Amino acid sequence: MNSAEQTITVEIATKIDEYLRETMLAIDEEAFGPGSLNEWSLPPFLHYGRVYVARYNGTPVGIAELMRDWRDPELAYLYGAAVAKEYQGYGIGTAMLRAILEGLPRSGFRRLQLTVHPENQIAIHIYQDKFRMRKVDFMKDYYGPGEDRWLFEWTWDG
Ligand SMILES: CC(C)(COP(=O)(O)OP(=O)(O)OC[C@H]1O[C@@H](n2cnc3c(N)ncnc32)[C@H](O)[C@@H]1OP(=O)(O)O)[C@@H](O)C(=O)NCCC(=O)NCCS
Repeated sequence: MNSAEQTITVEIATKIDEYLRETMLAIDEEAFGPGSLNEWSLPPFLHYGRVYVARYNGTPVGIAELMRDWRDPELAYLYGAAVAKEYQGYGIGTAMLRAILEGLPRSGFRRLQLTVHPENQIAIHIYQDKFRMRKVDFMKDYYGPGEDRWLFEWTWDG
């Protein structure tokens, strides 16, 4: 198939069926292993946070979750973003992030923060080079000894 025939869509997931639930959890598990969403943490994200699903020609292949900061309601936190391995490199992660960022101002957000592993070159390329996010902190041992993370921030310029 040539690229003109590929369709990437991004939607907000609220009520999900069993197939979508299992697919979302499988994508996240493949990406984050023990740190992934599971059957206990996905429902509160769906009901109290915001969950995005990216589809490639209709097939769910990406998932991302947002929280609102308790201390600063204009700040959103991207808890996680993942694309199924066999669909990586097709622009799906970029499309998902673009949809997330475009929707933030409508919901009253002016900023978004996220953490990323210092060696995650692909994610850092997307955040920094494609969406002009800034490194605002290096958080040593953020997820425990040896689990350092960069804190990135996006600011709405509207
Ligand atoms: C990060 C992730 C969501 C990106 O999704 P994706 O659909 O593969 O991303 P895209 O196809 O939109 O873009 C990938 C970009 O990385 C670039 N890239 C690929 N390999 C790269 C490398 N080794 N170093 C730097 N950039 C690289 C691609 O060229 C592309 O950029 P371009 O559009 O400027 O050419 C996906 O890799 C993933 O799920 N990773 C595991 C989970 C994760 O790390 N999540 C992010 C941290 S929360």
